[in-house]
Amino acid sequence: MITVFGSINVDLVCQVAKSPMPGETVMGSDYQLIPGGKGANQALAARRAGAEVKLVGAIGDDDMARAALTELEPAGVDLASVATRHGTSGIAIITVDEKGENTIVVSPGANASAEAGQVAPDALSAGDTLLLQMEVPFAESMKVATRASAAGARVVLSVAPFTPLTPTELAPTSIVVVNEHEAADFARYFGLAARGNQAVVTALARRLDRTVIATLGPEGAVASGPEGLIKVPAIPVTPVDTTGAGDTFAGVLAAYLDEGADLRTAMAKAAVAGSLACTKHGAQPSFPTRAEIEAAGG
Ligand code: RIB
Repeated sequence: MITVFGSINVDLVCQVAKSPMPGETVMGSDYQLIPGGKGANQALAARRAGAEVKLVGAIGDDDMARAALTELEPAGVDLASVATRHGTSGIAIITVDEKGENTIVVSPGANASAEAGQVAPDALSAGDTLLLQMEVPFAESMKVATRASAAGARVVLSVAPFTPLTPTELAPTSIVVVNEHEAADFARYFGLAARGNQAVVTALARRLDRTVIATLGPEGAVASGPEGLIKVPAIPVTPVDTTGAGDTFAGVLAAYLDEGADLRTAMAKAAVAGSLACTKHGAQPSFPTRAEIEAAGG
């Protein structure tokens, strides 16, 4: 069983030829409202990969809230622990350029009021998986993580958006997932001299004293930790929108680990799923099913 404690957003997405520079105005496509949020995205990606998933978080009581759960409900994600707060829902304002690269501004809304107490006392047992990111209050995430770790559950944290964290702050986590930019930010924060993705991930894993996985876009992913150095490839795709690809990786990784796969296998499936998620527009509508992951060579 996977519990995702995290953010639930509605993405307000506009396609542009080129994302604006500071001070610049650019014209874009008609906007679309697409369900997103790193927590909700991870939950859906894990569910589509075949896991039983419970999502814990908060939405507002505004008009946007209706759009936030439209992919999660039919997919069978357990939403019983999603609270409704008075006020706005989380919103992400996203531009996607011609190369499929994005810019994202998140307005947290109700996500800022997600509380550890929403996770039922018996929700996390030995062998279960807790999946976390950085769009809900970190202190609440770590309260849940401490409970999960004490119960013998694995705790996977995606440090997105990047926030500098110390090994002590990360104590209850088992696996830390970053993208290459977040890995570089971490390396700078710790003053690590390592250069190159593999060396940076190895140095980070030593510094944080736990498994670190870095996603590398078209280069796949690399991990370092007690399991040694693991590299897995992506599959070649023509990206149309990379939004949510990292969340897909984290969700699918958690799904395969939760069912007992080893780290290399789970990373390989996750890297394929992350590639597939770049081939369609939007975050959640682009996430592959387990059958699609397996058919693509995952
Ligand atoms: O990682 C992509 C997600 O980041 C988007 O869905 C957006 O809501 C922000 O949370």
